[in-house]
Amino acid sequence: MIQVNKDGHLMIDGCNSQELVEQFGSPLYAYSETIISNQCKEIRKVFLNKYPNTRAMYAAKAFLTTGFCKLLEREGLGIDVVSGGELYTAIRANFDPEMIEFNGNNKTEEEIRAALEYNIGRIIVDNPDELKFLESICKEMNKKVKVIYRITPNVEVITHKYIQTAQKDSKFGFPLDEEIIYPAIKAGIDSDYIDFIGFHFHIGSQLFQNQAYLKALDVVFLFMQETRRRYKYDITELNVGGGFGIKYLKSDEKKPYRYFLEPIMKKIDEFCKEHSFTRPSIVIEPGRSIVGEAGVTLYKVGNIKEIPNVRNYISIDGGMTDNLRVALYQSKYEMILANRATDKKDYTASICGKCCESGDILITDAKMPKPKRGDILATFSTGAYGYSMSNNYNKNATPAVVLCKEGQADLLVKRQSYEKMIENEIIPQRLLKSKN
Ligand code: LLP
Repeated sequence: MIQVNKDGHLMIDGCNSQELVEQFGSPLYAYSETIISNQCKEIRKVFLNKYPNTRAMYAAKAFLTTGFCKLLEREGLGIDVVSGGELYTAIRANFDPEMIEFNGNNKTEEEIRAALEYNIGRIIVDNPDELKFLESICKEMNKKVKVIYRITPNVEVITHKYIQTAQKDSKFGFPLDEEIIYPAIKAGIDSDYIDFIGFHFHIGSQLFQNQAYLKALDVVFLFMQETRRRYKYDITELNVGGGFGIKYLKSDEKKPYRYFLEPIMKKIDEFCKEHSFTRPSIVIEPGRSIVGEAGVTLYKVGNIKEIPNVRNYISIDGGMTDNLRVALYQSKYEMILANRATDKKDYTASICGKCCESGDILITDAKMPKPKRGDILATFSTGAYGYSMSNNYNKNATPAVVLCKEGQADLLVKRQSYEKMIENEIIPQRLLKSKN
């Protein structure tokens, strides 16, 4: 689905990468629909179809467009949004509101009102202050909404510091101090406007060990028991978040979904059996693992700078504006020359972006055939948090996004025009006056 053909051309779901760049320009995000479908198929096989009363809510932050919502709908996934913009995108694509949930540590009044107006399925409340705020808005709008509390289970995870979210000292989730969590649970149970149905945790992203999920479950189990003991109330839903790691480098290992989900489901079943709970509805929120490996970014090689005895630099027509992950998390990527992938890799150079930042280096000291201006350079596993974190730094336009399927490429997003880029800019009247 993403492979090199006999002519040394990178093919993305049957589409020739060089032709994609000729047709849609560069930089270009190209996705393989088949890879995305296969990820969804695996989730159905090992989770949704295997265990009744489960849902997979795709984390929109990884990548979301209106067209992509249609694909998610076809694949039987819901959507987890974290902003009014993501919610709007899903609603504009006519996505079933019941299959939308809203996460995030600071939903604004406007966002909460929109969520209630659209009657979305769940609101994941992040902290006690938000609980009160949400309840007051529900009351005013005379709405009752299903609510899940995100808790911070205080378990350790192994990943980049910026994407760890389970430690006690975190901006996300309810602190589990008795004087905070129990009154909040009680308030949720007693409320006329909040339908408190369960707990949520998301312990981090790009994870490869299932142990931390299992430790977080122990924390939830304690609260399930205490909620029953104190308030005679059993939760009916448990959301274990996303975070399932993907392969960025050839040497990385990707764990299949069942590696995470089987032990989670087994542990939940055992607990429920032992303590005579009906198994709550189990929800997952995968983002990166659905789209990450399905996306490739295509660039054109520009200037080639050789500093004798020091290093060679290959400049591309994108960089930290379309892939912020390297500057932010020192992430590592693989590259190839997509139009000459089988040529001998006897040249070493760093791949640098075009932004005015010395840190705008996508790959340090990559091996490749000696490039020339106009060659197509591809970086892999850029499908998650690439387009969604793209920006207009230096007033570079955001690239187009195409969805490839068995040789057919369709636009999901047009390349941003300069006109669109400045459409919200205003020249105040007084600055229109002529010079002094
Ligand atoms: N659920 C919640 C509540 C989350 O906060 C996240 C990610 C997910 C689900 C999805 O996690 P995933 O399955 O994609 O790992 N920009 C960073 C990733 C930030 C993730 C934030 N939350 C990156 O590029 O690595």
